[in-house]
Parts: sequence; C-alpha cells; structure tokens
Amino acid sequence: MCGIMGYVGSRSAPKVLLDGLRRLEYRGYDSAGIALLLGQTIDIQKSEGRLDNVEKLVQSDPRRLENATCGIGHTRWATHGKPTTQNAHPHQTGHIVLVHNGIIENYIEIKKGVMARGHIPRSETDSELFGFLVLEAMEEGLSLERAVRESFSKIRGQCSMVVMSEREPGVVVGVRNGSPLVIATDPLGGALFASDSQPLLQFTRDVIFLEHGDVAIATAHDLKIIDLKTGALVSRETTHLEWSVEQIDKAGFAHYMLKEIYEQPGALVDTLNGLLDRTGSEPFTLAEQPGVEVLRNAKELVLLACGTSWHAALLGKYWLESWAKIPVSVDLASEFRYRNPVIRPGTVVVGISQSGETADTLAVLRELRARKIPCLGISNVRRSSISRDADAVFYTSAGPEIGVAATKTFVSQLLTLLLFAGFLSRERKTLSVSELSRLFEDVVRLPHVISDGLEQNSEMIKAIDATVNSLTLSSKVFAGVKGFFFMGRGHSFPIALEGALKLKEIAYDHAEGYAAGELKHGPIAMLDPEMVVVVLAPKDSWREKTGSNLEEVKARGAKVVGVGDAEDHQLSQLCDYWIPLPLESRKIDPDLLPFALSPVVQLLSYRRAVLKGTDVDKPRNLAKSVTVE
Ligand code: M6R
Repeated sequence: MCGIMGYVGSRSAPKVLLDGLRRLEYRGYDSAGIALLLGQTIDIQKSEGRLDNVEKLVQSDPRRLENATCGIGHTRWATHGKPTTQNAHPHQTGHIVLVHNGIIENYIEIKKGVMARGHIPRSETDSELFGFLVLEAMEEGLSLERAVRESFSKIRGQCSMVVMSEREPGVVVGVRNGSPLVIATDPLGGALFASDSQPLLQFTRDVIFLEHGDVAIATAHDLKIIDLKTGALVSRETTHLEWSVEQIDKAGFAHYMLKEIYEQPGALVDTLNGLLDRTGSEPFTLAEQPGVEVLRNAKELVLLACGTSWHAALLGKYWLESWAKIPVSVDLASEFRYRNPVIRPGTVVVGISQSGETADTLAVLRELRARKIPCLGISNVRRSSISRDADAVFYTSAGPEIGVAATKTFVSQLLTLLLFAGFLSRERKTLSVSELSRLFEDVVRLPHVISDGLEQNSEMIKAIDATVNSLTLSSKVFAGVKGFFFMGRGHSFPIALEGALKLKEIAYDHAEGYAAGELKHGPIAMLDPEMVVVVLAPKDSWREKTGSNLEEVKARGAKVVGVGDAEDHQLSQLCDYWIPLPLESRKIDPDLLPFALSPVVQLLSYRRAVLKGTDVDKPRNLAKSVTVE
C-alpha cells in the first residue's frame, strides 16, 4: 500500500529517492518523507500530503542535495494513525531510522512492551514500534543486520521494511516478509531498493525481486542477500525487465488514466499475443504454460477478486457458463475467505488481481492452496506476489498501469477470461468448430472496436464530451445532479457496476450500478430529476427488456444517458443524452459488446473528474495496490 525507496551509492540520494517516490506515489499519497545520511547523522524531512511538500523541504538546504548519497524514502497510505506529518515515514527512534510497508499485527502487544521498557512512541503507527525493537537489539551489541533480523522474529504480519542506523552509516538493510521489495545494483555503483520495479527502470532494467524472508544488505560497494531466520547467504536470480521508462511516462496525455484508456487496443493485442499459441490451427489455442493443464481439467471454477477485478470476474462467468457450460461462481476475495465455502472436488480457483499484490486475494489463494485446491492467477505484473500464492499465473500484457483507476488492465482481464471461455468450449466441445472460429475472428477484432471508438472526434467521444459537459457545467439543464445509477442487463450489468465504481473513485460522485431488472425492486424510489441514470443497452438479447426499464426510469423524471448501437434510433429518442457505440462494434458478436462499453464508462468518469477538478490519477483515500486486508 505504501511506497518504499532506498539508495546507497555515489549519486545524489535525494534526487534518486524523490524521483523514485514520484513513480511510487500511486501506492499511497497521504504523506511522504525521506531520510538522508549527512555525515554521521540522519536528516529526516517529512510532511502530510503529497511528495511535493517533501521536495520543497529537501530543497530548502542545498547541503542535502549536494552531500547525501545514502537514504531511504516513503509514500504512505495510512493504516494505523491519521495521515499526519507525525505519522509519516521515515520514523526515527534514537539512531535508527526506518520505512515500512504492511502491517504489524501484534503491534498492541509490542507497544505495551516497549512502553513498559521506558520508550515513548511519537507517532500512532505500528511502524515506529519496530524501530524500538531494533534500537534495543543494537544496544545489546548486535549489528544493524542482526538487530533487524532479531526484531523481525518478534513481530507478526506481512510487511517489508528498510532500515538505516547512524551507528552504521552507509549501510541500508531491507527485509521482505510479505509485502514486495525489489533491489538492484546501480550500474554506477551502489544499490537501490523499491517496493516495485518501476522506479528502478530509470537506473537499470536488471532487478532482483526479493523472496519472502529475504534480507538485503547494501553499501556503496556491496549488495548481498541473506536468509531472515538463519543469516545464510542466498542467491536470487536477476530479472531483466521488459517494461521501459517510456511506458511509464505520460507521453503527452494530460493524465495517466487517459493515456491508459487509449492504450487499451495495444493492451488487447499484446495480451492476445502473450496468451495464445498463434501457430496452432485451432481457434482459442492457449500457449503452453503450467496453468493450461489445470484449466483443462477443471470441472468447476471459482473466480475470486476485489474491486474492478471482481467486475471482470462477474463478466467472465457469463462467457464461461454460456460458452463452455462450466459452472462458475464468483466471489469477493474478502468475503469468500471467512464464510466456510463448500468447494467440490474438481474445482479450480482463479484469483484475479491486476497488481498481483492485493492482500485479500492473495490470502485466500494461500489458504486454499494449503488445502490442496488448485489455484490459478490472472495478473498484469510478472513476479508479483500472486506468482507465489497460485499454482500458475496467466499474465495479461497491458503494460504498466499507473493511474489508480484500473482501465487497460480491466479489459485485458476480460480478454483473458474470454480466452479461457473459448479454450474450455473447445476442450469440452460445447461449441462447434465453426462457432468457435467465428467468435475467435471477432475476438481478434476487439482492439479495432476500441480504437474505432477512441478516434479523435469520433461520434462516441463527441457525445461523451457533450453529455458530461452538460451534466457538469450546465445548471440550466439540470437543477443539480445528486447521484448516478448505471444499469444494464446480462453482459452489460458488470460494466454498469464498473461504471459506477469509476465515477465514485475519481469524480467522487455518488454512483451505483444495478442490474436493470433490479431497479424496480427498491432503488427506483430514489429517482427524480436530480438523478442521472446511465443505461447500457447495446444490441444484444437483453436490449428490449433494458429498453422497457429505461422507460420506467424516464417515467420517474430521472435524466437518462443512453449508450447503445449507433442506429438504435428507437432508444436514442427516449434519452436525454445519447452515446453511440463505435460502428466497428456492429461487426462483433453481441457477447463481446462489453469491450465497446468499457471505454464509454471510463471516459464518462474521466471527463467528469477533470471538469470537477479532482486529482484523476491519485484520487483521495485510494492506492493502486491494496496490500492490507
Ligand atoms: O490489483 P487488483 O486488481 O487486485 O486490485 C483490486 C482493486 O483494489 C482495484 O480493482 C480497485 O478497485 C481499482 N482502484 C479500480 O479502479
């Protein structure tokens, strides 16, 4: 949830740390700080709010920029204690300074202990307490590395930590004990630590993903890894990163989110290329990889995820059940775990997480795997923690997604589930070869469908802009907008949920997604002229019924934004605002229309957020990867 950077070498440490933290800010951004070794002492600058505040503090004294070549930094997403300067990391206890990502579960017990021994914590965090443990261990004569290891044996919980001490200037010790930590040798000498690989790309593409229970010890001349429990040297393979620095820049777009929306066609092409064996003559042939056999043998699937990934799972169920006739249940990872679910023999569990780091999803996979239930993963981040907790992972190839709101990873997850559905339909002979070939041709067309809609000045874009401008800026048309409902049936229902989540996340509007048939069972009572209902009604087998639901909405005076086929004049006439889907979408099977709808709901939220002036890429209270339960 939080972002960690560490550096020791010959470069300007504040520059390395601040540049790195900027690329990690998506992990949490309610406070930040850096600690720099200046001579024999450690100087800490931290602040609530964004990293810019810390940058100003650092720049206020040129000595920091000129002299510091060793330091650690942090961006925080508050768990224990409010997002204040006091609670911001790094935390200092005596000569120990540390940054922490994750949770110390037994912090109350630790706190009682350290206070009973005369220490007075200055923050409300669990993190600071760890510093007292290290301090005490060093007072007993242990080295920094030994003291950190000793202190880890006293805490419970998944976390990573990077620690320095004024008693051992120039030594940086990092521990991965759950939450991710990546290290690299700086080509100019020295070493780098980060909680994911992106900030390291500007220095090197060769990195090491530490394993659970690894301790990395770095100086300007050396970087070694030892085992947390035994202290024995361990060797870890170096990974050459495929992502480039250019991919993690905004490339002229106003926001990452917008860039990522526009990258969706490419994300789909790369995901197809990554998952399919295109040399095979049969449609939907998955490239050989360990998970394929597990999938092939599945008699039933359980899809588990959180947030947007859960919406992808809900949609996957429609395709998997109707094409492959395989029973599928979908659950929120955070719920599944605690409700003693019945899992029948032959069930394969699929955890879906774009980041591969979501604590709820990982925890449930870990538990199920321990019960010998086959577990697969779908993720966008290679070597993320899900690769440890699932038997095998299918990777989407959406490239780095920096905006907190998931967009291109969502459609890539949809595509992966669609490929699963096609593959299993062939294996289980539930669709004929000609049906599969026809569907496959349409799947290959999906990138064109999305890019057709995203063309500059396409009818779809013009209509989205006009709709949102009017809803947001014109008080003549709307006395006010007090809330949004998104509604759809069948394949459009999960997109309705996703549309509402996007609007909540980045535009802070009250928004709910509903199955169109559900509205009259309660939510319709909310409708009045200040409510906006976005009706997703593409030309599929649910179109007529959704049209009737639209009439019900209109009769209650709500303002209606319709999204549907460009030539569905009957529907467009009923709507206050009309957003036509791209013409290319008429060439694909109606089951695939969610791919045409997704950019619409993403752009609606994006445009509204921009007009409302919110921080689109870093919406309040959120973080890109949620590594706490
Ligand atoms: O990395 P994951 O896919 O596991 O993340 C799950 C959710 O936290 C995530 O989808 C969240 O809802 C996004 N911010 C949605 O835009």
